Amino acid sequence: MRASFFAAGFLVVSQLTLAQPALEQQLKAIQSDPVALKAAVEGGRKAASFCANCHGEDGNSRSPEVPNLAGQNPAFLLEQIRKFGSGERKDAFMQGLIKVLKDDERLQITLFYAGMPVAPAKADISQVARGKDVFGKLCARCHGEQGHGNAEIPRIAGQKIPYLQTSLMRYRDGTGVRNDQLMSIATASLKNDEIVAVANYLTQLP
Ligand code: HEC
Ligand code: HEC
Repeated sequence: MRASFFAAGFLVVSQLTLAQPALEQQLKAIQSDPVALKAAVEGGRKAASFCANCHGEDGNSRSPEVPNLAGQNPAFLLEQIRKFGSGERKDAFMQGLIKVLKDDERLQITLFYAGMPVAPAKADISQVARGKDVFGKLCARCHGEQGHGNAEIPRIAGQKIPYLQTSLMRYRDGTGVRNDQLMSIATASLKNDEIVAVANYLTQLP
């Protein structure tokens, strides 16, 4: 079982990295050049001024259904922007908005948000121990012990509770709004109360 999880993981993750290789290479090149990175982050701050209405000036969102982008892994953000653009991920507003963003703006916005600190939220303390247990058993091996993810796997530490819950149910229930093979396998056995518990655990993680 474990081996097949990893095999599936390898397959899908390598597909993700190949989805837009040129742009991802550009991202890496900017990240490894401090001068270019500083300029990109400044450009991103300006290009993201409209995004701030919902995602917050510093990438910490103001509304529970809107995800924080602060501290998110830039390659993951770039990939989600691509998915909205191609319609693989559905959200009427985000899809329309993303289509008009040029490649440069995508890179800049991504790097700007990735560099901002996340502000963890308060949780229902009575849910946290159980959520930690679920996370350790089913999620940590991909999202990391601290929930910080890596280039292809999103950071979920400090994310908003309603957004976490909705996203997990969409993956589990195969609604078609958001598809990911790894996440549908990972959430298949989750009960609603475990989703509530794990969301409460994750939101308060720094
Ligand atoms: C009107 C509010 C609104 C505005 C403005 C907005 N967004 Fe969003 N954004 C959302 C919502 C809501 C979601 C979650 C959609 C879902 O449930 O899948 C989202 C999701 C995202 C995600 C996916 C994050 C993740 O963790 O998977 C990215 C990336 C993103 N937005 C980038 C942007 C960028 C870049 C801009 C500006 C060009 C922007 N958004 C403007 C509401 C907004
Ligand atoms: C086999 C690896 C793997 C496992 C195990 C896994 N995840 Fe994920 N997770 C991913 C990948 C890859 C994505 C990005 C999917 C996409 O593009 O929509 C993701 C996306 C997510 C998202 C959406 C984040 C965002 O910003 O939009 C949430 C929330 C999430 N996972 C929570 C969990 C939880 C909770 C568990 C345990 C129950 C879990 N994951 C187990 C690989 C995994």
